[in-house]
Amino acid sequence: MGESTLCSQSEQETILLGEQLAAQFQPGDIITLDGDLGAGKTEFVKGVCRYFEVTDLVTSPTFSIINQYDGTMAGGNPVKIYHVDLYRIDSPAELAEVGFEEMVYTSNAIKLIEWPDRAGNKMPERHWKISIEQDEADDNVRLITLHEPVSHEHA
Ligand SMILES: Nc1ncnc2c1ncn2[C@@H]1O[C@H](COP(=O)(O)OP(=O)(O)OP(=O)(O)O)[C@@H](O)[C@H]1O
Ligand SMILES: [Mg+2]
Repeated sequence: MGESTLCSQSEQETILLGEQLAAQFQPGDIITLDGDLGAGKTEFVKGVCRYFEVTDLVTSPTFSIINQYDGTMAGGNPVKIYHVDLYRIDSPAELAEVGFEEMVYTSNAIKLIEWPDRAGNKMPERHWKISIEQDEADDNVRLITLHEPVSHEHA
């Protein structure tokens, strides 16, 4: 319950899965993306942005840390999409400098966060959690697991 795993065989399929799963995301939601370098987190976000009809080119926020896009909900209302990559964040001071806390509590925005562990205890507890795992035998295969938000997580 609350968890599903899908298999992607290509970059295009990961984008399509992002586009399909995005239908469940609501303004205010946080979606964390776990997975190694090159797992496909950014490709998945491209699919989420496609669902929300983002017209700008979606690129990795490797150096910008936070990229912002204008999206549109299925009903036509506007929604902001924040795409965050915390890989280069090394301290709470750096996290504060990029405006992480303001961003993460924005209610009219969908927030997709790569390398969420870098946020430590600044990451709100309630969020969707996506893990992308690379297949050891096949370079193009990924296992993508989606966990629904839960209010209380136990260690
Ligand atoms: N099934 C697949 N799904 C997603 N990407 C794939 C797949 N097969 C191969 N790839 C390739 O893997 C790479 C994924 O890159 P991407 O930038 O999305 O990774 P990332 O998880 O965001 O890494 P980083 O932590 O460096 O930001 C791309 O070069 C893509 O073409
Ligand atoms: Mg990335």
